[in-house]
Amino acid sequence: HQAWPGLIEAYRDRMPVEDDWTIVTLLEGATPLIKANHLSEITGCEVYLKVEGLNPTGSFKDRGMTMAVTTALNHGKRAVLCASTGNTSASAAAYATRAGMTCAVLIPEGKIAMGKLAQAVMHGAKIIQVQGNFDDCLELARKVTADFTEIELVNSVNPARIEGQKTAAFEIVDVLGRAPDVHALPVGNAGNITAYWKGYTEYRADGLSDSLPRMLGVQAAGAAPLVNGAPVANPETIATAIRIGAPASWNQAVAAKDESGGQFRAATDEKLLEAYRLVAGRDGVFVEPASAASVAGLLAARADGWIEAGSTVVCTVTGNGLKDPDTALLGMPEVSAIPVDPGAVADALGVG
Ligand code: F0G
Repeated sequence: HQAWPGLIEAYRDRMPVEDDWTIVTLLEGATPLIKANHLSEITGCEVYLKVEGLNPTGSFKDRGMTMAVTTALNHGKRAVLCASTGNTSASAAAYATRAGMTCAVLIPEGKIAMGKLAQAVMHGAKIIQVQGNFDDCLELARKVTADFTEIELVNSVNPARIEGQKTAAFEIVDVLGRAPDVHALPVGNAGNITAYWKGYTEYRADGLSDSLPRMLGVQAAGAAPLVNGAPVANPETIATAIRIGAPASWNQAVAAKDESGGQFRAATDEKLLEAYRLVAGRDGVFVEPASAASVAGLLAARADGWIEAGSTVVCTVTGNGLKDPDTALLGMPEVSAIPVDPGAVADALGVG
């Protein structure tokens, strides 16, 4: 049994890295593909969760960031910049620190989950809050990096990000021995759906799987430009990670949907929260609200028959639930503490 070397080393022959490069890694990847027993039972499908919250900084962004920061470092860049709803900034901050590089992050004012902000703080990133949303932040980041070429833009418009993130599809096929029938995932800026589709098609082209999944891209109803077919000027959703109105990888996401016979769908915040509670409460996997979009999409697509009973479905759950304790504790009733007394415990349990 050999220790996991990180995804660049694990899939080195499929990664655009040079032999003499220094690899920047936190041993990301190799995340578990967990059978979701409850979801399988209620859908009549074979449902698996690709648990990306178990990456080093708690989201799938680490797959892209090991490649983006490695590439930047070996190209002689000294700093990285990103726009972020939180996870990209947490990941960029951690990998830049490992590389000895400076990291600055542009975040929408007041709209990122507390755990993600804590990560950027702890990894020493320069945090710049912007009076605008993610789309404004990305536009700013693109302008700044166009003018200052010594700073590398590490959003998913950076092709190295996509190369790293495509490995999640490889891992799924490596475990299942084939591609699933349907792959469901949340869509915000649309880098990840682009990356999965690249991974699945690459593996099939090289004979490592004999089929491709239908891609189910799920957006929040208040931030669903790909579903509407037009950008959303003022995106709003409780799932702040995917509060995005103008996805940068629009065309690639549409290609993934069309080429796979897939679908975009929207889920209301109410449905997102229902799925968020279901996957934690019944299948034991605590994900962040945006991540539950894949599960909400599965449930809706199964209900209207787009997914047939008996299908094998993988839902990517993109980020760890611990990143956003505020949403988890929403509406939790005040409970007063009991005395140090077994009788009081029995009373509280209703067995007194
Ligand atoms: N899920 C989570 C938890 C995310 O953080 C993101 C994107 C997505 C899904 C959507 O992925 O953008 O590739 O379609 N978060 C970015 C960020 C925007 O800044 O952390 P996508």
